[in-house]
Amino acid sequence: EEIEKGGYEHFMLKEIYEQPRAIKDTYRGRLLADQGLIRMAGIDQNLEKFTNANRIIIVACGTSWHAGLVAEYIFEDLARIPVEVEYASEFRYRNPVITDKDVLIAISQSGETADTLAAIKLAKEKGAFVFGVCNVVGSSIARESDAGAYTHAGPEIGVASTKAFTTQITVLTLIALKLAKAKGVFSESKYHEYLSELETIPAKVEKALESNPLIEIISDVYKDSTNCLYLGRGYNFPVALEGALKLKEISYIHAEGYPAAEMKHGPIALIDEHMPVFVIATKKGHYEKVVSNIQEIKSRKGKIIAIVTEGDEQVTDLADHVIEVPETLESLTPLLTTIPLQLLSYHIAVMRGCNVDQPRNLAKSVTVE
Ligand code: AGP
Repeated sequence: EEIEKGGYEHFMLKEIYEQPRAIKDTYRGRLLADQGLIRMAGIDQNLEKFTNANRIIIVACGTSWHAGLVAEYIFEDLARIPVEVEYASEFRYRNPVITDKDVLIAISQSGETADTLAAIKLAKEKGAFVFGVCNVVGSSIARESDAGAYTHAGPEIGVASTKAFTTQITVLTLIALKLAKAKGVFSESKYHEYLSELETIPAKVEKALESNPLIEIISDVYKDSTNCLYLGRGYNFPVALEGALKLKEISYIHAEGYPAAEMKHGPIALIDEHMPVFVIATKKGHYEKVVSNIQEIKSRKGKIIAIVTEGDEQVTDLADHVIEVPETLESLTPLLTTIPLQLLSYHIAVMRGCNVDQPRNLAKSVTVE
């Protein structure tokens, strides 16, 4: 096992650090930026199913569901296809309206999650086209799907999902870009800008990982918290949910993720000097609005830990701590803003003496409902 950890103390940390490579492996052979091409057999062979679809329904659980939420923003924003994201466990039992004009995308690291598998079977019965996004090759969901794309993240051993999440987002971004191009809803220049920016992401993730020593210091300040709030807007709202889930599952600290603007509809009542609030406040995407949310937290004495774009000044002046990530296109920011939140949960859990790779009560793949 020590050899498998490759010198890291835990699988989770190893898998966090593997992300630049994992993301590259995900787009290797698919993203041909110099030729302006994205090659994905599962999409190429079924292109019309997607371009003629009434809507895309995404089903998943846990972290994979969060990747689905990011995909909802990407598909609607770039490819202009309506998307619904569903918890597989709810979808399968709520007698959903499904037609043969629907495409269902099932996202699952393990490819064995019982609820996601059942949702696929239901959608197939109703005539929908089912596309699987899995990491484990040959898994049940991969086999049950009509077509699919693997994430190629390599084995993920830590129960807390890290590289599976960022590689799922990478695959879903490639699909959205392909569909945007096929539907002609994207200008050539915008399309090319996306392809070349995607190629810079592994190096930018590498850069984000360089904040690890600072993140360790911040983790030490907040390791004894009993509650934490995570806020983000737009593309970074699902990242806030994912940050909160990561902290809960491995450190056993109660955490909630919220869209930043929803704070004033309830959670703001929780804010006092004992409440750490992790805010994703990158430059692109509702920056000024998030700044005013930060001011609201500050005036109630909440502690602000902000994830900002390199060189940020406004949030840096307001926040108690800032962690910088490189600049990128708005829809690609989740691939970077997720990294510091993964490291924060990791360090807090280690400092609290928790079993990071095998948290209590959790299994790597949930094969029973
Ligand atoms: C993530 O950190 C969790 N351990 C969990 O939410 C997981 O993402 C969920 O069980 C779904 O698993 P899957 O991707 O293998 O279907």
